[in-house]
Amino acid sequence: MNNNFFNNSAEFLNRLQRSKAFLVTKSNEHVNLMQIGWGYIGYMWKKPSMIIAVRHSRYSYEVLKNSDEFTVCIPKEGEFEEQLKICGTKSGRNYDKVKECRLEMAEGEKISVPHIKGCDSYECRVMYRQSIDSELLDKDIHEMSYRNNDYHVMIYGEIVAFRKYDED
Ligand SMILES: Cc1cc2nc3c(=O)[nH]c(=O)nc-3n(C[C@H](O)[C@H](O)[C@H](O)COP(=O)(O)O)c2cc1C
Repeated sequence: MNNNFFNNSAEFLNRLQRSKAFLVTKSNEHVNLMQIGWGYIGYMWKKPSMIIAVRHSRYSYEVLKNSDEFTVCIPKEGEFEEQLKICGTKSGRNYDKVKECRLEMAEGEKISVPHIKGCDSYECRVMYRQSIDSELLDKDIHEMSYRNNDYHVMIYGEIVAFRKYDED
């Protein structure tokens, strides 16, 4: 485990803005994966933090309403492309994406949510959930992203563990 959670931040943001990231959640024993493209890494409440943006309509959000843990996994350049596609289009309500993607999962270091072997992984504990408030939102952004009122919920996680892909 690597204790400096920010050393990898530039690479993390570079991958995230190209949506090369998986969100891993777990409900009972069902592990779910979703492709994500928006988020932050930073410092909040004196804790290294990650914020992800999950729309109300996602199965992943249903899980995160009741679960206080998630992991964000970043593949190496050019890897897991097919799996990202599946995880960005199919819903965990109807699919076992871990099985379908034939991904090998490894146990979490500090949380019960596993991570994908071969990816960098950030284990997070949820500190706060905050739905986008349309009254406070710029009109152009509303027009661009929320015409159907399917707002994002910003999920603030404390980063409790970080592993490079080759540490499993
Ligand atoms: C390139 C790309 C990036 C995405 N980024 C996000 C994101 O940051 N937040 C989000 O809520 N959905 C995002 N999605 C949509 C979800 O990945 C998609 O709806 C997925 O099927 C939801 O899975 P779930 O219902 O199992 O949670 C993205 C989809 C794609 C194709």
